Amino acid sequence: MCADITTIAKQVGFKYHSTIIWNEQNISRRTAWGSWLSATAPYVIAPVEVIVVLYKKEWKKTSGSRKSDITKKEFMEWTNGVWNFSGESKKRVGHPAPFPVELPKRCIKLFSFVGDTILDPFLGSGSTLLACLQTSREGIGIDVDRKYCELAKKRLLIEGQINQLNLDVVAGGR
Ligand SMILES: C[S@@+](CC[C@H](N)C(=O)[O-])C[C@H]1O[C@@H](n2cnc3c(N)ncnc32)[C@H](O)[C@@H]1O
Repeated sequence: MCADITTIAKQVGFKYHSTIIWNEQNISRRTAWGSWLSATAPYVIAPVEVIVVLYKKEWKKTSGSRKSDITKKEFMEWTNGVWNFSGESKKRVGHPAPFPVELPKRCIKLFSFVGDTILDPFLGSGSTLLACLQTSREGIGIDVDRKYCELAKKRLLIEGQINQLNLDVVAGGR
């Protein structure tokens, strides 16, 4: 899938830079083994997600505040492209596929400057906007499903303790 997405992205003007592997460490419940104890057709499942790092025009970033807030320890650790930390609980968050805030937070601190605007076109439970709050970035989130926009809004108000006035919710879609 990541190879297909990279190919499509390149066709529409992105350039490939690198790949980060997030090792979620454990797969929730495994039920699909394929051919159990047989070489006929076993399934192999990796408990990882792949982050494809793409860019447009130039890799070197010159716009924005040019202020980075990443620490030396974070930089050393995160530029090693295998990230190990646990996933987020579906039940706790109320979304079928939530990311832990740590995931967008690392991407944001590594690849953007303080004050930059971050777009998440598949917002889900709002993890990226929570990460924006924690890192002093502006955030824009889009989700095709209105109930997830509401969920993200609720998380921002409760977990993020954001002032309602700083939330701009635009309805559309279904
Ligand atoms: C894997 S989830 C994102 C999870 C999110 N990162 C989080 O931490 O909660 C993908 C989300 O994309 C939304 N989605 C799927 N197709 C979409 C589309 N065409 N436009 C916008 N959102 C879409 C789904 O409703 C779902 O909430």
